[in-house]
Amino acid sequence: MSSLEEVAQQVSVCTDCPLSKGRTKAVPGEGPADAEIMFIGEGPGFHEDQQGRPFVGPAGQFLDQLIMSAGLKREEVFIANVVKCRPPNNRDPLPGEIAACRKHLDKQIELINPKVVVTLGRYSMARFLPNQTIGKIRGRARSVEGRLIYPMYHPAAALHNQNLRKVIEEDFKAIPGLVKQGAKETQPEEPSVQQLSMFSQDQ
Ligand code: URA
Repeated sequence: MSSLEEVAQQVSVCTDCPLSKGRTKAVPGEGPADAEIMFIGEGPGFHEDQQGRPFVGPAGQFLDQLIMSAGLKREEVFIANVVKCRPPNNRDPLPGEIAACRKHLDKQIELINPKVVVTLGRYSMARFLPNQTIGKIRGRARSVEGRLIYPMYHPAAALHNQNLRKVIEEDFKAIPGLVKQGAKETQPEEPSVQQLSMFSQDQ
């Protein structure tokens, strides 16, 4: 494989895990090959499976708002997922499915070589920062394999939770600065005790 189009082609015919059996369309991801920022979600939902495009349902609408609020355009970022086919009934992806799909995501990251990877939710976070708790490490960028990784809650978690919505909106504000900073590691303050107790859930 040598280009993003080839990755997308391979994803569209991939049968390396059982999720391929239930898909309407595979969702390889989209965005420019020279994107400085890559957002990585969990996996396609109903709307994504229908359209073959990432983050086009309700969580996607919120992500679009967040991207705009940060002064960015959706067309200038790359948006992908840990698994490229929809898990049945939007269940969490299984370890074997994530492992089978990893080669596609790895190739996309290698080809795009983004300055910043924003992980959306715990499955995406675990790709770079295994054995961590999202509530503890969200909103703090760190360098992993020479690349800045910025863990955030998944936008879907905020759809019915105003408190999480505020946290995500706040975390998003740091993204333009992270891009400028490139591969330098940041160590913002630890979240306060109050924040930790407010957001004990693990999305
Ligand atoms: N949630 C995800 O994680 N990815 C999508 O593409 C849509 C919703």
